[in-house]
Amino acid sequence: MGLAQQFGHPRGLLGAVVGRGMARGNAELSRWVVQQAKDRSAGAVLRVAELGPGPGVGLQALLAQFDQAHVWGVDLSSVMLAQARKRNQAALAAGRLTLLEGDTSELGASEPADLVMANHVVYFWRDPVAELSQIRGCLRGGGLLALGYQLKHDMPAMAQKRFPPAGHQLYETVDQLTDLATTAGFSSVSHAVKGSEQAPEGRVVLAVA
Ligand SMILES: C[S@@+](CC[C@H](N)C(=O)[O-])C[C@H]1O[C@@H](n2cnc3c(N)ncnc32)[C@H](O)[C@@H]1O
Repeated sequence: MGLAQQFGHPRGLLGAVVGRGMARGNAELSRWVVQQAKDRSAGAVLRVAELGPGPGVGLQALLAQFDQAHVWGVDLSSVMLAQARKRNQAALAAGRLTLLEGDTSELGASEPADLVMANHVVYFWRDPVAELSQIRGCLRGGGLLALGYQLKHDMPAMAQKRFPPAGHQLYETVDQLTDLATTAGFSSVSHAVKGSEQAPEGRVVLAVA
């Protein structure tokens, strides 16, 4: 399995190494997306899910920022779930975190969710509108979607070159993300950029179910 596939579903020893790299390289974006979601949330946030938490840094931030919430983490990768488990042992022991192996359909466990976050996951969906519609179905009315991502031209050269041949979808404009969210039935779509427009460190699209 090539490196590009590892980002979509980390497996084995190389997957574990990729996970450790993501924990370092994506930590700041994960924390920033959680903060953006918190700033935008309306009402009590008691049920929160992260799809594709990878090594679990975003889960840590969700647990810290939404300290009254139960948090679900759903990932395809058992290797990533092992890293997320290690990173969030106290929350697991306290019964505040549930980790599930699987795809978007497992998010049903968090229904009716107040917030669903997915960072650097949108590229791996074959049918993003179907995935987003499924996520919307798990959110309560007025619940929030937070998708962290990077546009193609701001991604590392490796991803720009190797993701598309591996079947991963990269996005050229923020409007493409708006279209996906609105076609999936979300409203009040907004965007934020981390850092400057000239050198973005990442982006988030926020949308209401
Ligand atoms: C590039 S990593 C990002 C990890 C983490 N969110 C971050 O920002 O560092 C993508 C993660 O999403 C998971 N993933 C990809 N598609 C998924 C799906 N349809 N359902 C659940 N997890 C998925 C992968 O296994 C991987 O752990």
